[in-house]
Amino acid sequence: MSAGADFAALRSHASRLRGMKIAALLAGDPARATDFALREGPLYFNFARQSYDREALDALLAMARAQAMPEAFRRLFDGAEVNVTEGRAALHTALRGNHSGAAAAREAYATASAVRERMAALIVQLQASDITDIVSVGIGGSDLGPRLVVDALRDPAWGRFRVHFLSNVDGAAAQRTLASLNPARTAAILISKTFGTQETLLNGGILRDWLGGSGRLYAVSANPQRAAAAFDIASERVLPMWDWVGGRYSLWSAVGLPIALAIGFEGFEELLAGASEFDAHVLNSSLETNISVRHALTAVWNRNALGHAAHGVMTYDQRLALLPAYLQQLVMESLGKSVKLDGSPVDGDTVPVWWGGAGTDVQHSFFQALHQGTGIVPLDLVGTIRNDDPYAENHQALMSNLFAQAEALANGQSNDDPHRAYAGGRPSTLILLDALTPHSLGGLIAMYEHSVYAQSVLWGINAFDQFGVELGKQLANGLLPALRGDAQASDPVTRVLLAELKARD
Ligand code: F6P
Repeated sequence: MSAGADFAALRSHASRLRGMKIAALLAGDPARATDFALREGPLYFNFARQSYDREALDALLAMARAQAMPEAFRRLFDGAEVNVTEGRAALHTALRGNHSGAAAAREAYATASAVRERMAALIVQLQASDITDIVSVGIGGSDLGPRLVVDALRDPAWGRFRVHFLSNVDGAAAQRTLASLNPARTAAILISKTFGTQETLLNGGILRDWLGGSGRLYAVSANPQRAAAAFDIASERVLPMWDWVGGRYSLWSAVGLPIALAIGFEGFEELLAGASEFDAHVLNSSLETNISVRHALTAVWNRNALGHAAHGVMTYDQRLALLPAYLQQLVMESLGKSVKLDGSPVDGDTVPVWWGGAGTDVQHSFFQALHQGTGIVPLDLVGTIRNDDPYAENHQALMSNLFAQAEALANGQSNDDPHRAYAGGRPSTLILLDALTPHSLGGLIAMYEHSVYAQSVLWGINAFDQFGVELGKQLANGLLPALRGDAQASDPVTRVLLAELKARD
């Protein structure tokens, strides 16, 4: 079990490199631009514009070695209890490949494969019906992954089904989603690991009533009995998931049913195959060539050696516009922790704020602050080499902007007029997909999942629980009687707010 790394060595490298420009690192080490690049299948990563030199990178790799990183990955893939606070494994890798001889992992792989067969059969049934639209109801991990993948990979002309997503408890979301749909041609999938999530229960009820009963309701849950009972859904239309898959790691399970409906079952299997290939890379490469480990070490360098409090993900591919939202849950719900596995306080900062958007739009909104603001925000800049739209000139413009931003941020430009000067020294990792396909997207998502796990090992924290979200949920439930006017709120400010609601409603 990792106790978390000691960052003192990193800090001394950071002091040694203070004032050293990224451009100077590149000028002093001409092979850096190629040597700091790593490739796995259709995914290319260039870390040359990070601000560590080879010596600091060696210290980072030594830190990963000291934290027994390869063994930590082996434990993850074998189904060891890596989620110590909940006494669970985190076997999302077994949803997409058979990478371990350990009994728990092999069993999980077999179970997941059997459920995929049920998924395929349900899709065939739906294809034979007159359903044209699917509403996927779920939130957090039961929404963001499928939403990202469907938005990224759907055929612009749409395939057999149009897939819509409903997550927010705000009734306006349901109203808007349903406004253009015909209940006679629509089916709904209620996705909830627990089937105790307020948003999904309320929205599920809206869908059931709107559809005129539960005849076209499907469910995915680790609590299938509860799902079947709460919405009267026939058991053959309820697909299982399991405790050993975290919600934000679950798109590879039956939670991915909306994906398989939108892009076809073969496409879904390709997504899994791409992730599985990346899993093999993470398990089998040396620490020096392991892309997820390098990505995690880069994150820790920027956070713990340089103290950067934010991290940006900018996608220079409009189809990946939802990647930052997806990563916000994956990264911040996993790594937003202040105590180590044994409950003692962490030794330094953990996750920075993750945010982002799609280029080139973002260049015309918040990039000013990235270029000249006082804070430095390290970036992942993600682009796709081959476009699939017919507008070649636009694609050249898009790529030129991607490369130009990375240059400008890193190199800056001096000017006698301080208002027109660019300090530079703003690090980024360039990530290129050969093309955006189910295979490459599966690999990219797996890369981030494993980077998150590697960061958790370096910080000595549990990446698989999320107790931080519980208090707000409990308080919201406790406030419902007060909102109905049946009780008083105990908090004095909330009491005033409730009085304001009552007076103005
Ligand atoms: O937001 C907290 C959370 O528990 C997430 O971890 C999870 O993905 C989401 O709620 C939805 O939970 P469920 O799938 O149980 O409805």
